[in-house]
Amino acid sequence: MLRSYFLRIPHALNRVNKLYISTTVKKGSLLQNYLSAVGNIFNSITIHGPTVDEVTKDIDLSNKTCLITGANSGIGFEMAKCLSSRECSVLMACRNPYAANNAKNACENSHLLKLYELNLASLRSVKKCSDEILKDQPKIDIVILNAAVFGLPWTLTEDSLETTFQVNYLGQYVLLTNIEHILAPDARVVIVSSESHRHVSWDFNHQLTPTEAMVSLPKQEYTSIRAYNISKLCGIHFMHYLSYRWVNSGKSVFCAHPGSFVKTRLCRNWWPYELLYTSMIPFSKSISQAASTPIYCATSPELKGLTDVYFKDCRRCEVSDLAQDLHLSFRIYDLTKSLLRDRAVAAAEPVAVKQSVAFPDVDETTLVTNYSG
Ligand SMILES: NC(=O)c1ccc[n+]([C@@H]2O[C@H](COP(=O)([O-])OP(=O)(O)OC[C@H]3O[C@@H](n4cnc5c(N)ncnc54)[C@H](OP(=O)(O)O)[C@@H]3O)[C@@H](O)[C@H]2O)c1
Repeated sequence: MLRSYFLRIPHALNRVNKLYISTTVKKGSLLQNYLSAVGNIFNSITIHGPTVDEVTKDIDLSNKTCLITGANSGIGFEMAKCLSSRECSVLMACRNPYAANNAKNACENSHLLKLYELNLASLRSVKKCSDEILKDQPKIDIVILNAAVFGLPWTLTEDSLETTFQVNYLGQYVLLTNIEHILAPDARVVIVSSESHRHVSWDFNHQLTPTEAMVSLPKQEYTSIRAYNISKLCGIHFMHYLSYRWVNSGKSVFCAHPGSFVKTRLCRNWWPYELLYTSMIPFSKSISQAASTPIYCATSPELKGLTDVYFKDCRRCEVSDLAQDLHLSFRIYDLTKSLLRDRAVAAAEPVAVKQSVAFPDVDETTLVTNYSG
């Protein structure tokens, strides 16, 4: 009797596949399809929050221009697709022109998308990309710093910095500061962050004097998770610094955690991560749900007048103690400036660096006092 039940399982799975999965899930391996189908059941009871389409419903984005880094894949692609479907012009800054072109053609309003080649692991490429954007675009309303890597073995970039740090933080810092003067007066910047920023632990002395080796990890101190966490913490401190810099300017800046274990290409660099993310499909957000928090920060009229806030599940959320320390924000800013100063030659004509130095060179203590007040 028990045996006959077991024998029926393959038939039952086959029926589910025919009747449900093949109609609800398009691509991927059979295992991924089953897991996505289970995820769809969770989604139908909305425990994972809204999708990008739900979040942008009724928001007019025509006449807006949005720059997205890493827009050819995963969450970045989902955001590019959604914004262009709402008549927003999207500038896709991507590493791989071929993949970017395929992503562009997969969007309904592909004429609204423009491609820029950007390799964040090269300051030279960041400069070239920002120069092209400055040449073409009179104004940018929204910037979404989304590109990231995770799970890489230790490598140095051509600028002699650890790759995860440079791609996830420093390269995007330079890109944004280079194009800062074409940001619209009410521009919004969204830094795609992660809850993993909470796992950085620096002792008090390190917090007082952050050094290059603390952010751009040397080989002997490197683990890919550690490097990723640090890069995301630096992103939150960048948000604090920008919000100080733009105080009373009308511009705003947010950090957004999209969701955990969202199955994208982020986990592709190491097979155990790929396995972990795949097995989490039923319990994690879909890509569209993951994109909803950054898109909410980028577009929602509800956030007018607000800045320097970290969002998770489209709601405000406290950051870790280390990420709240505004003194540390200014120290990391100083460190960033010195890392770039040392590498000005690597970035060819130092326009990029000159503009990043355009942050006011005021006494740090004055900044912090003003800001906290
Ligand atoms: N997935 C999650 O569970 C999760 C959780 C928390 C936070 N996040 C954050 O969400 C954001 C989007 O990630 P995702 O999950 O959508 O991952 P993804 O599909 O791997 O997308 C990452 C994007 O970054 C681009 N990129 C990587 N290295 C680059 C470089 N050197 N120069 C320029 N672009 C580069 C990738 O381009 P290529 O296609 O050329 O590699 C890709 O377009 C990231 O900031 C990530 O940290 C994701």
